[in-house]
Amino acid sequence: MESEHYELILDHFKNPRNYGALEDADVSYEEGVPSCGDLIRLDVKVEGGKVAAVKFTGKGCAISQASASILTEKVTGMGVTEIMRLDDGEMLESLGLTVSPTRFKCALLGLKVLKKALLQNEKDKAAGAADGIER
Ligand code: FES
Repeated sequence: MESEHYELILDHFKNPRNYGALEDADVSYEEGVPSCGDLIRLDVKVEGGKVAAVKFTGKGCAISQASASILTEKVTGMGVTEIMRLDDGEMLESLGLTVSPTRFKCALLGLKVLKKALLQNEKDKAAGAADGIER
């Protein structure tokens, strides 16, 4: 059972889904883990309150990169409000294996970056509405 789960992580690490840049992204955000230098960047397109498309790039350990790949599949088509409510436990569950607490930062980096990207998008929209420019 456990080895099947490692296979999911390894598959996503070797063949990352939604990898690359999104030409028409509404917002891009990147953040790393200072202690190891690993990094995730997400480009997100939001339409009608949902994530219409999301792509990622990054560098780092298998768990951080695979979990970002798994995350992009999970949240495509999902409502922004729903994503903001996703908690760490749900993200860890989608990886399908038990991650030791020392690796939580790796497994949760993608979700953290996604939530910050969506918050930034809201801020940009609010700023656009305030200055009359549509973004
Ligand atoms: Fe850096 Fe995993 S060791 S995110």
